[in-house]
Amino acid sequence: MTDLRAVPKIELHLHLEGAAPPALVRRLGAEQGKDLTGLFDETGGYAWSDFTTFLAAYETMSKVFEDPETYADLTEAVLLEQAANGVVYSEIFLSPPSLFGGDCGRWEAMRAAAEEGADRVQGIDCRFIPVVIRHHGPELALTGTLTMLKAPRGRIRGFGMAGDERAFQPQDFAGCFARAREAGLRLTAHAGEFGGPESVRAALDDLHVERIGHGVRAIEDPALVARLAAESVTLEVCPGSNLALGLYPSIAAHPVAPLREAGCRVTISTDDPPFFRDTMTKEYEALSKTFGWGDADFETLYRTALDAAFCGPETKAALARRLDGGARSLSSAEKEGPRA
Ligand code: HPA
Ligand code: ZN
Repeated sequence: MTDLRAVPKIELHLHLEGAAPPALVRRLGAEQGKDLTGLFDETGGYAWSDFTTFLAAYETMSKVFEDPETYADLTEAVLLEQAANGVVYSEIFLSPPSLFGGDCGRWEAMRAAAEEGADRVQGIDCRFIPVVIRHHGPELALTGTLTMLKAPRGRIRGFGMAGDERAFQPQDFAGCFARAREAGLRLTAHAGEFGGPESVRAALDDLHVERIGHGVRAIEDPALVARLAAESVTLEVCPGSNLALGLYPSIAAHPVAPLREAGCRVTISTDDPPFFRDTMTKEYEALSKTFGWGDADFETLYRTALDAAFCGPETKAALARRLDGGARSLSSAEKEGPRA
């Protein structure tokens, strides 16, 4: 198989904290004297067994990021790993612990540190998307949203919601999404992962999102699939995450290919790669091996993701040019392109 690492990629669905290398978390945990009991397995990777224990491990891991300054090293480490897998542009979810509970100073320190970490890495550009955590409830979500909206934006271009889809309803977070939209942010929400088609419909109807995180369970309702295609809703599909969390038994049984064939706008991402032992290269290898996807398909993925990206037209034009050069030919001069 050809080396798919060098294929230029755009990743739209990556949780910054969820992408934290275990070694970084171990180091910060030791420095801060944090209790990370049970977080790691015998191989040194993250230990969890299902979605509920995954979310619990996620919360434990996030404890080392209660100090806003840690976000510089975190962001740098995550972008370096993405760049090593051919990612030239990414949109990254930010969900610091409890969104810092309305503490504007800590939010701004975190955001500034994340910007500094991003500035340190060449060959990849990124934007940030703060997300509220559904299972933490609407009250905390609104506090976090209002805090975030008061602070400078930097690379923030979107707003979203992650967390346990089995808790609360999208409607409960409609106020957060309305405020973010009024403030000019673009919208995405996790739905159709552990919730069925009705959950995707509710995200569209009640939150007015233009992208859906996952959305794969829309496949259970042909009318919804047709709607997603007709309304050009972009799906942030994360096959490796879905397999690791037990949604589907194999990539062959995953709906990514049928959704694409039905006309849905499909993009590919890794979600929380170290938790799922995943990389963008592995995702592309699985798609190539299982469905025979090749250069033309990967170019389509890139162009679809570029179209759905929340950055401005100048950045998009620069990224369109990068496609022709390939990931390896990225120059640092190009990387410093416009911050639209
Ligand atoms: N689903 C929901 N919330 C999350 C996930 C996910 O896969 N990863 C991190 N937060
Ligand atoms: Zn996610």
